[in-house]
Amino acid sequence: MDGKKISLKLEHISQSFITNNKVFDAAVDVSLEVYESEFLVILGPGRCGKTTLLNMIAGLEKPVDGQILLDGEELKGSDERIGMVFQKRALMPWKTVMENVEFGLKIKGMDKTERRKIAQKYIDLVGLTGFEKAYPDQLSGGMKQRVSIARAYSNDPHILLMDEPFGALDAQTRYAMEEELQRIWQTEKRTVIFVTNNIEEALYLADRIVLLTECPAHVKAVYEVNLPRPRDTVDPEFLRLRKEISDNTDLAL
Ligand SMILES: Nc1ncnc2c1ncn2[C@@H]1O[C@H](COP(=O)(O)OP(=O)(O)O)[C@@H](O)[C@H]1O
Ligand SMILES: [Mg+2]
Repeated sequence: MDGKKISLKLEHISQSFITNNKVFDAAVDVSLEVYESEFLVILGPGRCGKTTLLNMIAGLEKPVDGQILLDGEELKGSDERIGMVFQKRALMPWKTVMENVEFGLKIKGMDKTERRKIAQKYIDLVGLTGFEKAYPDQLSGGMKQRVSIARAYSNDPHILLMDEPFGALDAQTRYAMEEELQRIWQTEKRTVIFVTNNIEEALYLADRIVLLTECPAHVKAVYEVNLPRPRDTVDPEFLRLRKEISDNTDLAL
């Protein structure tokens, strides 16, 4: 990745919480560079501190130590250059697909014609053309996540954070959404930081994989995945990397 522009930089980030009058470390000395337009996957076991890391990048929690730089400047609180796609509970059920997708733009005061045009572009991009007037409850889990992706894209973020966005989907829908996400990202490249506890999902999507340790989160290893997309999950190099990562972690395959 020599010569690539650094989009986000985590410098010696640590996070602790006080529970029952005891200090609990959730992340310790995490340093990381994320490059522009890179698809970076953070891979780690459950409760290891992945969401904690994303929350700090999203500006929802302040690290107890270290700093986060966005485009070279220290990040202070939440920033509209950073967008988030959550696992669930993110859509407003009383609003249509269109209203959900255009919401951020409406808040910013963009006029209706302009924001509808942008929202439509991303509704089309995620494959939801014709569902503009549908309500979230009328959609499948995979379609709801498409709406979340379209909404995040509409706000034109430099960085998209995705916290196990497909974790609640059944296996078949999950594969379909992984394929869709790589297609969407290839069409409109953004810096993506995608969190998962699934090795295969990480290998299918990532330019680089950051493997975390058990809690407190610490960077255990970084893997570059130089395989053509869409990835062939039975390609010998794919399987070799899967074994290498799996041998380096307690994560189940
Ligand atoms: N606000 C908080 N207060 C206390 N403990 C927390 C808080 N947020 C996270 N934790 C703890 O930090 C650890 C890591 O949590 P989390 O970042 O959600 O893990 P992951 O997303 O990898 O599953 C867990 O043990 C969790 O209970
Ligand atoms: Mg989490």
